[in-house]
Amino acid sequence: MLRKGSVRYLILAFLLFWQGTLAAKVVSYGVEEDIFHPVYAKNGMVSSVNSTATQVGVEVLKQGGNAVDAAVAIGYTLAVTHPQAGNIGGGGFMLIRTKDGKTTAIDFREMAPSKATRDMFLDEKGNADSKKSLTSHLASGVPGTVAGFALANEKYGSIPVAELLKPAIKLAKEGFVVNDALADDLAVYGQEVLLDNPNSRAIFIKPDGTPWKKGDTLVQADLANSLSMIAADGPAAFYQGKIADEIADEMAKNGGLITKQDLAAYKAVERTPVSGTYKGYEIYSMPAPSSGGIHIIQILNILENFDLKAMGQNSADAIHVMSEAMKYAYADRSEYLGDPDFVKVPVSALTSKKYAKQLASQIHLDKANPSSTIKPGKLEPYESDQTTHYSVVDSQGNAVAVTYTLNTNFGSGIVAGKSGILLNNQMDDFSAKPGVPNVYGLIGGEANAVQAGKRPLSSMSPTIVTQDGKVVLVTGSPGGSRIITTVLQIVLNTIEFNMNIAEATNAPRIHHQWLPEEIRVEKGISTDTIKLLEKKGHKVSVKPTMGSTQSIIVTPEGLFGAADPRSKDDLAAGY
Ligand code: DON
Repeated sequence: MLRKGSVRYLILAFLLFWQGTLAAKVVSYGVEEDIFHPVYAKNGMVSSVNSTATQVGVEVLKQGGNAVDAAVAIGYTLAVTHPQAGNIGGGGFMLIRTKDGKTTAIDFREMAPSKATRDMFLDEKGNADSKKSLTSHLASGVPGTVAGFALANEKYGSIPVAELLKPAIKLAKEGFVVNDALADDLAVYGQEVLLDNPNSRAIFIKPDGTPWKKGDTLVQADLANSLSMIAADGPAAFYQGKIADEIADEMAKNGGLITKQDLAAYKAVERTPVSGTYKGYEIYSMPAPSSGGIHIIQILNILENFDLKAMGQNSADAIHVMSEAMKYAYADRSEYLGDPDFVKVPVSALTSKKYAKQLASQIHLDKANPSSTIKPGKLEPYESDQTTHYSVVDSQGNAVAVTYTLNTNFGSGIVAGKSGILLNNQMDDFSAKPGVPNVYGLIGGEANAVQAGKRPLSSMSPTIVTQDGKVVLVTGSPGGSRIITTVLQIVLNTIEFNMNIAEATNAPRIHHQWLPEEIRVEKGISTDTIKLLEKKGHKVSVKPTMGSTQSIIVTPEGLFGAADPRSKDDLAAGY
């Protein structure tokens, strides 16, 4: 059962209702003792990685905009205030549940340029060259964000995009105060990826060669200009007009592949979400070209065969069974998943209860199966490290989950000409060579090989859970390969382990991706538990935190949200 919150919490809720949105900020997650308490709101709520973006979204909702309107305004704001991942030079996915019970998915994933070739990321010796796929002009796929937001707005929005762009344009033009999170990321990744490109350097690095610091005001005049052109001329400004010229020129001068024709040909696509069930709940998530939804449902199906609740949340037994299930899913991912417009993805077979039962029967409760003994399953014939997530629920009952990205922090680090737009390095999500891991350690093969016009396989998993047709949970996360398991744990922690959304978010996370052969855990999993897991034959590594979930629980009494305390300056707030 989903837990809403405690009595104490309802008192807090009353106070928040009384004092409005600003009060909601008081219970954000900068304050250590608040991390186990969700934020409450009666009408609408936003949870995002950036407090400015959250406030922009809440304002749109208050003005009568719906959740899709807020999502578009938040997305454009993040492109300014969270340039690590917020973008218009990248792509992503939007999952929408309308107030009348329709669930749909907008795919605005980047596309490989028409001149892309299978071996483009190999060096002369035939080895995969990650520099090419991560930091060169070859690293970028054709961006999808502007087209995705336009499609979502056209079909499900109620306010013109030009209006929704206003806060982002103002923040880019007049500047915003650099927060802790951006200052930290500029200090680390900024120095690695932004220094080499003169256009990026001019924006993100001060003339003295040091990055912008916390408290500085960062102005992005070129980006303001590009956003204003989109406000005036719609997506045509980006895909056919001046912005397209800047991107194509940047590519032509520097050995990149994206042409004006590639930009003009880009299309965002509306797809049917992948869906499944878990113990009476309906799960909706992103279909291919994301692997996320399929494998979250596959893992949940396997886990339905075990009594996780009796084992206990984050107990050695529960972590063991979850890790074993994850291994099977990631082995299948490496073989079967790719862009559904190019390869036949066996969705029904992978998400069938029967297949899950068969996999569950191979899991031993006392002993880990070595990854070398696990291979992608034989399926029955079937029918034909920065990303950012935000969740929105409005007062009418619409819910939106968006995960979008440049891939790694600040993408390729390349700003296209005078556009002020950072370009993605999503091409690294293709399998550069069969069996060679990408930046997240994921391996793949034929189904995810580079091909002109194809979308690289993703793990991004914006997810909505319903019960009896009513939305109960909206969630998602960044985290590369760890997105799937992070979102899975939010679902399990709330609906299986009965945690409130803040507890569910804060709980230490675990992850197994088949290869490498290890359970990766966050600090907070006890040493006793780790020893028990090692006894069962697991290698356990304690590594940095995983994911940054932004979640909202919907109940008849109101909305309960939690931003992730793993990120700085993120905020769940409502009104
Ligand atoms: O689409 C994907 O799966 C990756 N490009 C996501 C990258 C990501 O989450 C990085 N963030 N930590």
